[in-house]
Amino acid sequence: MEHFPSEISETQLYGVSELMDLLHIDVETDVVDGRPERDDALCSKNVLRKQRHWERQLAAKKIKRKEEKQRRKLNREQESGACTDHPQVTKRVMKAITKERLVEAQSTGLKLCIDLSMTDCMSDKEISRLAGQLRRLYGSNKKATRPFHLHLTDLREDSRLYKECIRMNDGFLNYMVEITEESCLDLFPPETVVYLTPDAEEALETVDADKVYVLGGLVDESIQKKLSLNRARELSVHTARLPIDEYMVKKNNVKNFHSKILAVNQVFDILLTFSETGSWIQALQTWFPLGKGYVVSSNDSPPLHASSQMHQEN
Ligand SMILES: C[S@@+](CC[C@H](N)C(=O)[O-])C[C@H]1O[C@@H](n2cnc3c(N)ncnc32)[C@H](O)[C@@H]1O
Repeated sequence: MEHFPSEISETQLYGVSELMDLLHIDVETDVVDGRPERDDALCSKNVLRKQRHWERQLAAKKIKRKEEKQRRKLNREQESGACTDHPQVTKRVMKAITKERLVEAQSTGLKLCIDLSMTDCMSDKEISRLAGQLRRLYGSNKKATRPFHLHLTDLREDSRLYKECIRMNDGFLNYMVEITEESCLDLFPPETVVYLTPDAEEALETVDADKVYVLGGLVDESIQKKLSLNRARELSVHTARLPIDEYMVKKNNVKNFHSKILAVNQVFDILLTFSETGSWIQALQTWFPLGKGYVVSSNDSPPLHASSQMHQEN
């Protein structure tokens, strides 16, 4: 047994024992075969595992930070009203453009009246459907690059339709349309009025800034034939139908159903597209409802009766 000199203190002794421990380890690391080397390998494996774990955590944190940054950016954009269709144009800008177009339409836009004088003969259900169609019609006009100047004529404030429009259509009272109790003939000279009705003999050939187009505010729940034709006759104004016979053909369907009578908003969508493109083919192809049993004729040549005034098809 080894003895230390007496002058060596306890602390020094402790230090030495630690040193011995270290030395022991050092010595052991030099052992070529046996446990010490395995311990060392294990230890470095652990260190490596910990390092990889730490690196993974770091990468995950980095991804999380990136995601968080993107989420905050998205929130900021949503708060400032960035438009998803045109990411570079904010909602506020789009709203301003729409308003400007609608204001412009009030002085230079094509004129269109919805004749609401026939609502008394309609059921509550029909009134409700008409209110919905007016909402869609206004929605289409808002989206248009060249909107129409719209007039809701013969619309009394105490009528069921007026109340239903307020109930069903958000912001109805702020719609940029003229709402009046007067009829279209109180507003425009009769010779400028063209009443659109499916029962007219003549097809509409074009839309004209000097004319005023009138749609009958009717819903065909319980199909009442020729109502709008009779109303036009009563007013002694010109009538026209959509040029369905000229550009479309019947399509076979299981129910053998074919109808040329559309809802007011559907007719309006066709007129809007025609006024923007000058193409009946495009307008009818885009908006004529498939369920009505007609398709645009594959023969693209203009109809034989087309007048010189007619728009060229694209
Ligand atoms: C549902 S329809 C009303 C149909 C109703 N039976 C009638 O007497 O005219 C509503 C309105 O859309 C317009 N309309 C519908 N189909 C049309 C077409 N093929 N040509 C022209 N106008 C049409 C008319 O102004 C019509 O008054």
